[in-house]
Amino acid sequence: MKALIIYYSQTGNTQKAARKIRDGLKTSGWEVYVSALKDTKAEDLDNYDLIGLGSPIWYEMTPNMRRFVESLPDQKGKPAFSFCTHGTMPDLYFPLVIPRLQRTGFTVLDWAAWYGDCSIQIFPEPYYTHGHPDAVDLQNAFEFGRSVGEKAAALLHGEHVDIPEAPMPDMMPMHANAAIEHLGGFHNVHGKLVRDADKCLYPKCHICVDNCTMGYIDYAAETPRFGSQGDCCDDCHGCTYCEMLCPVGAIHPEIPYEQAAPVGQDHGSQLFCTVLSKAEAEGRFRRLINFEDVGTKTPFYSVYPKHPRLRPLSTKEDNTEA
Ligand SMILES: Cc1cc2nc3c(=O)[nH]c(=O)nc-3n(C[C@H](O)[C@H](O)[C@H](O)COP(=O)(O)O)c2cc1C
Ligand code: SF4
Ligand code: SF4
Repeated sequence: MKALIIYYSQTGNTQKAARKIRDGLKTSGWEVYVSALKDTKAEDLDNYDLIGLGSPIWYEMTPNMRRFVESLPDQKGKPAFSFCTHGTMPDLYFPLVIPRLQRTGFTVLDWAAWYGDCSIQIFPEPYYTHGHPDAVDLQNAFEFGRSVGEKAAALLHGEHVDIPEAPMPDMMPMHANAAIEHLGGFHNVHGKLVRDADKCLYPKCHICVDNCTMGYIDYAAETPRFGSQGDCCDDCHGCTYCEMLCPVGAIHPEIPYEQAAPVGQDHGSQLFCTVLSKAEAEGRFRRLINFEDVGTKTPFYSVYPKHPRLRPLSTKEDNTEA
């Protein structure tokens, strides 16, 4: 029995969950391979009996994971599971993602989500979900791996297992509408990103080319491309990964962070506190930081002013023994 876990992760939260699910799956008898999305090809899935797909929540699946899933051929009932990590607004992920996986032909056996710390330039640092995923979350990811592994094994052995129905969105539209109204939509709250070709070190450096979430930065093309439209990235669902990774600050937002930050800070904070307090009261969220200690006056970009703000994740330990 062979399982493949495919994940996308920028700051490591979803990668940590993927590795713990791997360990849990192994205890239920599975041989497991963990694969970062950019190293995964559609035909790889043919060699496995169970597929796990995980990403951070960016409203729903990250757009690169969505593109991958939608490019897959019919999976003809292949068992699968879904997982994610997220900040304050997880509600739409599974109601949108599970039907999409089902439309691709997967039999979705189970799904699970964990809170994760959030690194968005104009959002508070530390953020409300600071500290997640912690040891408790990761133990839970391990248990999830074990249980979905047991279920998938039973299915493969011809036993009856209950296949859950796709969840309905229960907190939408309140959360989605409030966020869209307050944060200006899920696209780039800070406007487009632009590249300063004079500062850029290409071809000596190609970090953004190698790591662009959507794989569309190409400075070697006849018309060099940063983003989907020439020198502006306007199709990235709020992603600023290239800006985070650039070692010399050659990528910057069209609207300076100083100008955009009050939107995220002032309007977002009340919404985030309300949503998380409700989740906490319902036992879905554990606060690991007092909300008074959240960096409402210190957005992420100001706490990490030096470039690069982030480094690409290493995948070296994705397949080492637990
Ligand atoms: C561009 C972007 C959009 C995001 N959108 C959401 C969202 O809609 N809902 C939410 O709960 N968290 C959102 N987050 C927070 C991430 O889902 C969360 O930080 C996640 O744990 C990051 O996972 P990673 O470390 O694997 O990249 C967003 C983060 C980024 C960078
Ligand atoms: S913001 Fe940067 S990394 Fe993200 S999709 Fe656009 S060009 Fe790629
Ligand atoms: S990461 Fe920065 S310096 Fe490197 S190629 Fe991209 S824009 Fe140029």
